[in-house]
This record gives sequence, C-alpha cells and structure tokens, in this order.
Amino acid sequence: MLTDITAARDAALAEIAAAATLDDLNAIGSRLTGKKGELAVLKKRLGSLPSVDEKRSAGGAINGALSSVTTALDDRRDGLAAAAFADRVERERLDLTEVGAPPGRGHAHLVTQAWERLEDVFIGLGFRIAEGPEVETDWHNFEALNMGEGHPARGEFDTLFVDHEPPGGTSGSTVLRTHTSPVQIRTMLEQTPPIYIVAPGRVFRRDTPDATHMPVFHQIEGLVIDRDITMAHLAGTIEAFTKAFFGSDFTSRLRPSYFPFTEPSAEFDIQRPNGEWIELGGCGMVHPNVLRAGGLDPEEWSGFAFGFGIDRMAKERHGVEDLREMYTDDLRFVRQF
Ligand code: PHE
Repeated sequence: MLTDITAARDAALAEIAAAATLDDLNAIGSRLTGKKGELAVLKKRLGSLPSVDEKRSAGGAINGALSSVTTALDDRRDGLAAAAFADRVERERLDLTEVGAPPGRGHAHLVTQAWERLEDVFIGLGFRIAEGPEVETDWHNFEALNMGEGHPARGEFDTLFVDHEPPGGTSGSTVLRTHTSPVQIRTMLEQTPPIYIVAPGRVFRRDTPDATHMPVFHQIEGLVIDRDITMAHLAGTIEAFTKAFFGSDFTSRLRPSYFPFTEPSAEFDIQRPNGEWIELGGCGMVHPNVLRAGGLDPEEWSGFAFGFGIDRMAKERHGVEDLREMYTDDLRFVRQF
C-alpha cells in the first residue's frame, strides 16, 4: 500500500511538471485531486487494511501525498501564468525597428552655419544682433545713406525695384535692399547710443549668377556709435574679429576706398597664414550726413560701420569653387558640410 501511494504521488508530480499550458494543468489537476484520482481510489482501499496502525500510517501517507500534489499544482500554475504573461508581453511588444532606421537629424546649410558663427563671434566681442526688412524704402537703402537721387553710386547697385508705394509716402520707390546698410539707419532711429550692433541678412541685386555672384546673397553689417570713436577702434575691431573667426594666425589690413556713407572709407582684407590676401568687405567712419539722417548730432556722436558677404566667407572657408553650388539643392553637396 505504501509503495502504491508513493508511486501514485510521484506519477502525479511528474504529470504536473510536464503540463505545458494552464489549460492542461487545470485538466490534470482536477483529475488527480478528484474522486476518481488515483490517491482517492487508494483512500477508499484504506478500509480493507487489516490493522488500525496500518490504516493510520497509510491514511497519513495519502494525505501527505495529496498535499504535495496540491502544492505542486499551485506552484506550477504560478510558473505557467508568469510564463504566459511574459510570452504575451513579448508578442505584443511594439517593434519600432520595423519602420526602418530612425531618420537623421540633418544640419544647417553652410551659409546658415557661417551666419550663426559670425553672430557668436560678434556677440563675444560685445555686439548685439539687429534686423531690418528685406523690402526696403528707397530712403533707407540710398537717400539716408548719403546717396540722394541721381547719385552716381546708385548706378553701381543693380537694384531690383518693387512695384509698391512705400508705406506712409508717395515719393520715391520701394526696393529689395541691395545691402544691409539700411539697418544702420533703422538702428540709429530706434536706439539711443551707445550702439554696438551687427545685422546679418539677405540682400538682392540684379546680377546674373556666376561663380562669384548670386542675385540673392547674404551680408553682415556692423555699426558702432559712441563718443570719440576713431578709425583705430575700427581697425582694432576688424583685427579682433579676424583672429576670433579665422584663427590667431590670420591678420587683417585696411585699404583706402570709397563709400558714400562712410568718410574715410576702406576695404578690409584678411591674410591667410600662407601670406595670401583675401578681400572681405567695406568699412569706414560713419558719414556725418548719415548720422544726421539717423537723428544723431555728428558733433556729439561718432562711429564706424562695416559690411561684408557671408556667402563669400563660407565659400572661402570651405574651399567651394562656385557660389552657385551652394544654392543647388543637391544633397551630395550639402551633406559635405
Ligand atoms: N554696404 C556696402 C556694400 O554692400 C559695404 C559697407 C558697409 C561699406 C558699411 C562701408 C560700411 O558694399
């Protein structure tokens, strides 16, 4: 009898261990612990045992076997439930790699990169950023910059005119700004000195695109207005900028030149470590007429201004052969920078 009980218990435990699913286990469990289960059948045979002692020990063995079976069922049920849950989590997991590699973040265009670096450098030198409109009045673009109607210098700008009356006025015309210099006027009219600003922006000229010209390009204007500003401050600022932007092995120089809105005027060049000179832009002391147009008294205030092309700088910096390359939307070009 005792060996039958042990055998029945071991068989039951083996069956429980082998159950593969919760459904299987439930079926196995109700059979093993039910009235027709092997242990229940053995229990019924207790009465046929000869002595009380035998009955007692066999009965104890059966109860022990039944409780091991129940515990094994519970443990196996927990195990299978956990496995089923893990399996479901795995199956229902969202596999996001299926949509392919995540898209790259891209980067700013090389002209934008140069624009932002220029801003950073000038902010580091103590300047603020100023802005003006791309569609400009004739007055801001020319007249206030000491280029009255009929001034020959106007002819040097291949101006694009806009078929639109200037706001609040009927005289003169409206243009796409040919340079960022009108921001000088707007800033003087809006702010009280001291003024230390740079104004990067888009400018327009009726040029046929070639390797060094585009009808739409970018400039950065600088304007300083304070008391007792001299040409030495201008030269020092250009030099500090050159070293900060291009590196300490670059230098700069000013060459006499002419602009209607500055007096004296200069071109400024930078020198590469290999000795080569590159022409960068124009500059000079703000003309008294320009100060007056900006509402400032030339006896009290003086200042300097400069302006140069951003596209040209990006071109120089990255060794781009042809300006037009920068505006073809060819990703093979853009991705190089
Ligand atoms: N506006 C001039 C140009 O476009 C550059 C310049 C700016 C020169 C400021 C002197 C002072 O060529």
